[in-house]
Amino acid sequence: MCGIVGAVAQRNIVSVLIEGLRRLEYRGYDSCGVAVLAGGEPKRARSVARVADLDEQVRETRLEGVTGIAHTRWATHGAPVTDNAHPIFSRNELAIVHNGIIENYETLRDMLRGKGYEFISQTDTEVIAHLIQSLYSGDLFAAVREATGHLHGAYAIAVLHKSQPDTVVGARQGSPLVVGLGEGENFLASDALALAGSTDRFMFLEEGDVCELTLEKVRVFDRDGKPAARDVRQVAAYGGAVELGPYRHFMQKEIFEQPRAISDTIPQSDVFDASLFGETAPKAFAEIDSLLILACGTSYYSGLTAKYWLESIAKIPTQVEIASEYRYRDSVPNPKSLVVVISQSGETADTIAALKHAQSLGHKHTLSVCNVATSAMVRMTELSFLTHAGREIGVASTKAFTTQLVALFVLAATLGKMRGNISAKQEADYIRQLRHLPAALNSVLALEPQIIAWSEEFSRKENALFLGRGLHYPIALEGALKLKEISYIHAEAYPAGELKHGPLALVTEAMPVVTVAPNDALLEKLKSNIQEVRARGGQLYVFADADTKIVNDEGLHVIRMPEHYGLLSPILHVVPLQLLAYHTACSRGTDVDKPRNLAKSVTVE
Ligand code: M6R
Repeated sequence: MCGIVGAVAQRNIVSVLIEGLRRLEYRGYDSCGVAVLAGGEPKRARSVARVADLDEQVRETRLEGVTGIAHTRWATHGAPVTDNAHPIFSRNELAIVHNGIIENYETLRDMLRGKGYEFISQTDTEVIAHLIQSLYSGDLFAAVREATGHLHGAYAIAVLHKSQPDTVVGARQGSPLVVGLGEGENFLASDALALAGSTDRFMFLEEGDVCELTLEKVRVFDRDGKPAARDVRQVAAYGGAVELGPYRHFMQKEIFEQPRAISDTIPQSDVFDASLFGETAPKAFAEIDSLLILACGTSYYSGLTAKYWLESIAKIPTQVEIASEYRYRDSVPNPKSLVVVISQSGETADTIAALKHAQSLGHKHTLSVCNVATSAMVRMTELSFLTHAGREIGVASTKAFTTQLVALFVLAATLGKMRGNISAKQEADYIRQLRHLPAALNSVLALEPQIIAWSEEFSRKENALFLGRGLHYPIALEGALKLKEISYIHAEAYPAGELKHGPLALVTEAMPVVTVAPNDALLEKLKSNIQEVRARGGQLYVFADADTKIVNDEGLHVIRMPEHYGLLSPILHVVPLQLLAYHTACSRGTDVDKPRNLAKSVTVE
């Protein structure tokens, strides 16, 4: 999704800005651009192709400057065409880049048109550009502070003005922005990752902050217009670019990294201890009587899986909600409910807004399960549990999902223990099973050649159904999401018992029905559902645990999974579904790591 980089330096800064955009590319974008102050004027280059194309343009035109801003845009207002690409100018004096959405842009546009401002783009960003320009009287910092008072919605912006050649001003509300501190130079970015190689010292701006960067100084004012001190944090983890190695795509690499990612996420300790979730977790966990899980997409499905664990292991009532729905509906808050936000990026706008909403309703204890230690969500919650998936580049989430499941299982077992629902023997068994997971996953990954054979057939389909029951229904949902996201095949998932209540009407010989078949308490019920599909000529593709006795037959294609893995089985069963989606997408020749219309980190509502 949209990305920002900005810099004030004493050297030509264009290559730093372009490199920053490259580091943000994996998030998804459809145009990009850079502007610098050159010879006292703002000059820019923009492209509706890739950052590499922008790089060529700036080399050819010899675009150079010591103060600059740059952007990758994921279109919201206005098509991905050059006129809408950022930086956006106002009267050739001011340049701006913007992440987020301005909700009152129409009112502001009318007001600014009345003042003689001409609009060239269809973007809401141009409104901010002209608004700041209209308020400018020699002090860009002051003009931005005043302008932000008129903006409704979410934004992170970086602005420069021809009359202040050594200054970049930034502001944030609802979208992340971070200041990078250098020696005699300073930087701004929507993600610290963009500045790897330039600095490892960062100030994470807070909601409502406005900052001014000059060569030697960074000033921050808070939402009340008062000078604010923000902690400087050393973030060394933002190393170099992630290599693809022997893999064809990052998604494939990330699927195969799961044994390592899971082993890094499993706590070292031989016991489940609340302090794994933060210093105050023992007290907080003792005070709660239920859980409210908020998340989006794949992270939502990990929450749905966790509900089964939390209610069966910890016997604690658990509600799971799609963040973008929860934030806008009337709900009955329970201050004794622990709010859990789950997110790979920790920056998903809908989840952040849902968390804020829950906090505003009086929810006291909050926990984030997240893959990015410095993310907004981790900073906003009282408690946190970090997944150690490592950087996930592919838009389709894989290792982030399975590591979230590990984290949530540890949460269920910890609460179960605190509430006296698991014995010492059970605790030791869970720990042993967790530790054996990486090896079990390796045996599932070894099924890849069989899955490739199936994917050839899937690549010729336009629809698919996914079935699961109980704990594995969210896994069916996740399998369907993976397939549609990267192969563009329409896929739906159902709890297998729901089939006869409607979706069975879709079953013909042309409809592949992917079934997740663990050897659990619902196996016999699932076998009946399988027969319902076979009786209608449907083609079943079943991932069956070795001990299920489901075997190949007419209309019944089976890939044998390892022995049943008890409550942790969803973590194994999702992996062949990831591989099926991946290889089907490869056969169809789609852009696996950057599927159309999607972004890695969804920082707008
Ligand atoms: O970073 P988050 O986990 O908060 O992201 C939530 C969703 O946008 C994300 O899981 C999305 O559904 C993935 N592309 C799915 O593969």
